[in-house]
Amino acid sequence: MKLALIGFGTVGQGFVEILRDKGAALRDQYGFAPQLVAVATRSRGSLLLASGLDYDALLTAIAGGHLDQYPDMPGLQRNLSTEALIQQCGAEVLLEAGTTDLQSGQPALDYCYAALDANMHLVLANKGPIALAYNELRERAQAKGKRLLFEGTVMAGTPSLRLALQALAGCTISEAHGIINGTTNYMLTQMEGGMSYSEALAQAQALGYAEADPTADVDGWDAAGKALILAAALFNQKLTFANMTVRGISQISLEDIHAARTAGERWKLIAHLTPSGASVQPMRIPLAHPLAGVSGGTNALTLSTDLLGDVTLIGAGAGRKQTGFALLADVLELHRMKQR
Ligand code: HSE
Repeated sequence: MKLALIGFGTVGQGFVEILRDKGAALRDQYGFAPQLVAVATRSRGSLLLASGLDYDALLTAIAGGHLDQYPDMPGLQRNLSTEALIQQCGAEVLLEAGTTDLQSGQPALDYCYAALDANMHLVLANKGPIALAYNELRERAQAKGKRLLFEGTVMAGTPSLRLALQALAGCTISEAHGIINGTTNYMLTQMEGGMSYSEALAQAQALGYAEADPTADVDGWDAAGKALILAAALFNQKLTFANMTVRGISQISLEDIHAARTAGERWKLIAHLTPSGASVQPMRIPLAHPLAGVSGGTNALTLSTDLLGDVTLIGAGAGRKQTGFALLADVLELHRMKQR
């Protein structure tokens, strides 16, 4: 399976590390032997090699600051525009792991449409296109007979969408709530231990949890974008930010956190959605509440169902390998589909 990757930041690099480290196991266990034929970045160059790029050389080049540092070899094309690369790469799957833009979804959305025109399946970790244009993307993918997979957009590789859409198929989900941003949950946990807001944010950035612009995390928009994705995927509802309450954690001080502790409570940034609406806001919850024990970069999502009652999933919410794995899970699903 030939893959093309757009975006070679934390998530893209995590994915390539997994391909490098697990190549033999993926081949032996699943008969899966992907080739990464193209990598495109916004400002650090692009590479196309039909016979497959070398993972170590890619990671070394990007660690050095630019894909121009990738060694010369026959057939290698450098610095094509992303549009040209999509048209020329001949890959079966486009992996979109570029920077999320929750206002326009661009340029990722146009790359997705171009990839469908080039007959590729879509796998996204980029939240923008799914949060803003899920219905159109899904319709266009269906019209082309292509899959649209986006596990990495919510709770990193923790299988929240697979749980809701596949494992719980047949149940009616009436409601979902939980902690769906890793950065803010990590910060609240660290601040409870006495760390300052700015130091906690710097650590979340260093751990690869935060968005490129971390105001999206701390002001609640990242969680709100994920709520839009869940609303579209679970409830077939096209919500917009305009009809949501969105508040983040930037107004929460160490004093607020200590006051909650003294009262036997803890602040959490809670997302809540039903078929008719969604909200993201910080809430004080009792220490005995199931979500109170979800700490650090860990996230949790409770789905309320008619047949099973509440089902709660707890796992990584962000991170390099954790989100890189989401891309792997999606391409493995495409691989299994091809084998059937
Ligand atoms: N910035 C996001 C978070 C990354 O902290 O949850 C995962 O979507």
